[in-house]
Amino acid sequence: MSFRLCALNELEENRGRGFRSPVGEVIVVLRDGQVYAWQNACPHLGINLEFNPDEFMDCENHYLLCSNHGALFQVEDGRCVVGPCQGESLLPVAIRVESGEILLIES
Ligand code: FES
Repeated sequence: MSFRLCALNELEENRGRGFRSPVGEVIVVLRDGQVYAWQNACPHLGINLEFNPDEFMDCENHYLLCSNHGALFQVEDGRCVVGPCQGESLLPVAIRVESGEILLIES
């Protein structure tokens, strides 16, 4: 089973977008042509990272940011590099890109 999140061309490079899905809230980031998807839940409190819709990145659009605590997460592996959950990681969400569509894979 798969669930359509959006078209690939709806994503801007290095800008996160949030989606509701059958597996919960998901963050998707396009970087260097690769799509990364993470559960929108901080590893230490389990709450959403953003305050405002689709505002997931730090000011340089390099790291995913917890708006509550300033924690920074690497886009590529979800690992927290600064903040109260340093060393922990966002949980990955399985996706695939097919015919220009980003599909979430439900197990
Ligand atoms: S909720 Fe965990 S760093 Fe903010």
